[in-house]
Amino acid sequence: MHVFTTNKDMLEYLEPFRKAGSTIGFVPTMGAIHTGHQALIKRSGNESDVTIVSIFVNPTQFNDPKDLIKYPRPLAQDIHKISGAGADVLYLPRDEEVYPPDFVPVVFDPGHLQQVMEGPFRPGHFEGVITVVHRLLDVVKPSRLYMGLKDYQQQTIIRHMIKKVQMPVELVPCTIVREEDGLAFSSRNVRIDPALRSIAPSIYQTLLEARKMLETKEADDVRTWGSEILNDLGFRTEYFELCDGISLEPVIQKKEHDLIVGCVAAWLGDVRLIDNLVLKGHPLNA
Ligand code: PAF
Repeated sequence: MHVFTTNKDMLEYLEPFRKAGSTIGFVPTMGAIHTGHQALIKRSGNESDVTIVSIFVNPTQFNDPKDLIKYPRPLAQDIHKISGAGADVLYLPRDEEVYPPDFVPVVFDPGHLQQVMEGPFRPGHFEGVITVVHRLLDVVKPSRLYMGLKDYQQQTIIRHMIKKVQMPVELVPCTIVREEDGLAFSSRNVRIDPALRSIAPSIYQTLLEARKMLETKEADDVRTWGSEILNDLGFRTEYFELCDGISLEPVIQKKEHDLIVGCVAAWLGDVRLIDNLVLKGHPLNA
């Protein structure tokens, strides 16, 4: 695996592939690589001629400076895991490569897509994600962008951004990968208090129950039930939302929506976990 820290070196390496018309798969990450990231890398490897993975802990998407400081940065292990998953290139840009002095961020307002769910709890977060993903796509110019569906709102916003600013890249949404007990893989899982770890899969169990419940009840009943049950179990639930899987609008009447996704954010001790599950309809092409 080649490791590049400058745009110039990385682009020089990719140039012959581009000229030959090869497909370039791109997996942007902030490091702390886990099995979920590895699944994205493997999928890109199966579908693309070259797979490039980036690690860049993007300061502009952290609304809480403490979270940025606490963010794990196990670089040696990451390199091992990324190369083990079959990536061809690891792009490790320094801040100045991503945000040079003359950098001008993309202008794209995702409107209501960023005002729901994560929006009120993480002010400025999606502006930061849009800025960095646009910048990385603009530099790398991949054919395909692989993103996990765990960050459902994130991938919806990026899908809109790509369409709106007409970037020539295909977004490939990838299924959530779960630990054996159902907890979605996340870089934050290692920070869960061991005494609370056995409770963590309840988010997924509750979403599974919610799917059954939605067969007979309306969205609002399921919302209230979901939050209450998680709070009773010891979580501090920020939202247990049932949204339209395309527009992210909160569901009022289930019959009016073909795709309904249950999205959850809840604190377990001092770790904030998010997860989601399709409750009605067919998942995106994952
Ligand atoms: O999902 C993430 O890890 C980040 O938000 C991303 C897409 C790499 C942008 O920094």
